[in-house]
Amino acid sequence: MRLVVLTGAGISAESGLGTFRDEGGLWSQYDLEEVATPEGFARNPRLVHDFYNARRENCASAAPNAAHHALARLEAALPGQVMVVTQNVDDLHTRAGSERVIQMHGALMRALCAECGHVWPAPAVMAPEDPCPACARPATRPDIVWFGEMPYHMDEILQELTRATHFVAIGTSGQVYPAAGFAQEARRAGAECLELNLDPSDVSPVFHHRQFGPATRIVPAWVDTLLG
Ligand code: APR
Repeated sequence: MRLVVLTGAGISAESGLGTFRDEGGLWSQYDLEEVATPEGFARNPRLVHDFYNARRENCASAAPNAAHHALARLEAALPGQVMVVTQNVDDLHTRAGSERVIQMHGALMRALCAECGHVWPAPAVMAPEDPCPACARPATRPDIVWFGEMPYHMDEILQELTRATHFVAIGTSGQVYPAAGFAQEARRAGAECLELNLDPSDVSPVFHHRQFGPATRIVPAWVDTLLG
């Protein structure tokens, strides 16, 4: 088996981390143009750092939930056969024990120098005037892929999708590309596609199978059936 698991904000919802487009989600509280675009960062870097400082604090005090742990259990049972591709910037998959994780939208716990490209562990609180540890210039930003920027590791992800025998999407609304197109890519490559989500998504029709419910219930149940 070559299983690719795509996760979105919904897998971390029951860990207390907000999703983006559900009722009361992050994009109903903040203007994404202001806090999740390079233009927004150029206009007001302090506002953007404050947005990610708050999310980093929430992430640090959150814990992986049963869905994250189930995926780690699955990877341990099927060595080398499971790849998690996450849109999430929290670190809950790795903290649950998943080792093969691709963070395509970056990581809250990493800082990036916009001038020299240096990456280092993000301090709890970041500010625009923080000097880069490598080049000393005050050009630090969260290592997050913003709208209009190219997601990380796309070559590796596409290679995984074309070789997948099974593709599972968990907790994503299927509204943001390129991730929203991954099910189609996998299906075209002949993979069996399953959607595990709270509600139907924009891309539900692409999947062969769909199960709806909270991730902490339906993901462990799915892993139990898979492992027998
Ligand atoms: N269990 C399972 N699924 C859930 C749960 C839950 N407890 N709670 C919410 N969901 C589902 C919702 O039904 C929805 O389909 O998770 C999905 C969350 O959708 P979004 O908020 O759009 O999050 P996501 O799909 O990850 O967004 C993709 O958009 O803003 C950008 O970069 C950001 O990575 C993000 C990308």
